[in-house]
Amino acid sequence: MTTTPISTPAHLLEDLEPVVAENLDRHLALAQEWHPHDYVPWSEGRDFAFLGGEDYAPEQSRLSSTAKAAMFTNLLTEDNLPSYHREIATRFGRDGAWGTWVGRWTAEENRHGVALRDYLVVTRGVDPVELERARMDYMTSGYDSGDKTALEAVAYVSFQELATRVSHRNTGKVTGDPIADKLLARIAKDENLHMVFYRNIVAAALDIAPDATMRAIADEVIGFEMPGATMAGFRRNSIIIAKAGIYDLRLHHDEVLMPVLRHWGVFERDGLGAEGEQARDDLARFLEALDTQATRFVERRAETRARVAANADQEKAARLAADIAT
Ligand SMILES: [Fe+2]
Ligand SMILES: [Fe+2]
Repeated sequence: MTTTPISTPAHLLEDLEPVVAENLDRHLALAQEWHPHDYVPWSEGRDFAFLGGEDYAPEQSRLSSTAKAAMFTNLLTEDNLPSYHREIATRFGRDGAWGTWVGRWTAEENRHGVALRDYLVVTRGVDPVELERARMDYMTSGYDSGDKTALEAVAYVSFQELATRVSHRNTGKVTGDPIADKLLARIAKDENLHMVFYRNIVAAALDIAPDATMRAIADEVIGFEMPGATMAGFRRNSIIIAKAGIYDLRLHHDEVLMPVLRHWGVFERDGLGAEGEQARDDLARFLEALDTQATRFVERRAETRARVAANADQEKAARLAADIAT
């Protein structure tokens, strides 16, 4: 879809500075200190072969292949922090409240990667060699969101933080491990606070520059992609994650896009110019198509699950019949 670019109004970042300062204070008041080491069962840790112990073998992991794929993807996504830091530091700057936010946000995100890695290495949840090689590759290629304006970047991260929250929370549920579930719920809480910060900035931008902000929102929803395209196994793991209902089109539409758009009152706002109205129409059309696609995906997934369950039942019955016959 081609869109009419509307440039970010001059001085928008400066105009938003008081809102950033206010939301930074709000964030600092609400964010609770927590420590990665509290969420790691250190007593399960042991040396690898390099120090005379035993190297990783798949049977040492208590995680299902689905949980492994999701944890691996979530950790590598967190690992690419230097790229994200560069993205937001160049867009928002390093001065004043924007700069303080960029630093604080980066420190919080780093905690997520530290905690997930410690957990996975100590519990031998995933292959540490594969993980390290994937981290090297992914960080070397880095993440580049293209030439997003500051307005587009802040709209994008409002959705992306919430997407990360949903994905961590649902990953926790599939791990079958209360410790991992607690850790991922803790991380998800941080992601939610990040989303609230960015969402409030976009809300203020909608008041200051309604047309340009509406265009940015529409474009970011329409072109939304999680960072990770260059990550090892990303396509394969994304399919596993969608099949398991950890993150799929239905969740993306219902639990990520719509709550944020509703919060902004996107479809009730008055006072848009022709360009803003056009952006809102594009957005509405896209959401309708996405909703249809999500419904189709969920139906197909249910059919596949039913087929797999029926096959498993048939196999079980055949085995039972064979046992009885012998
Ligand atoms: Fe994070
Ligand atoms: Fe975050």
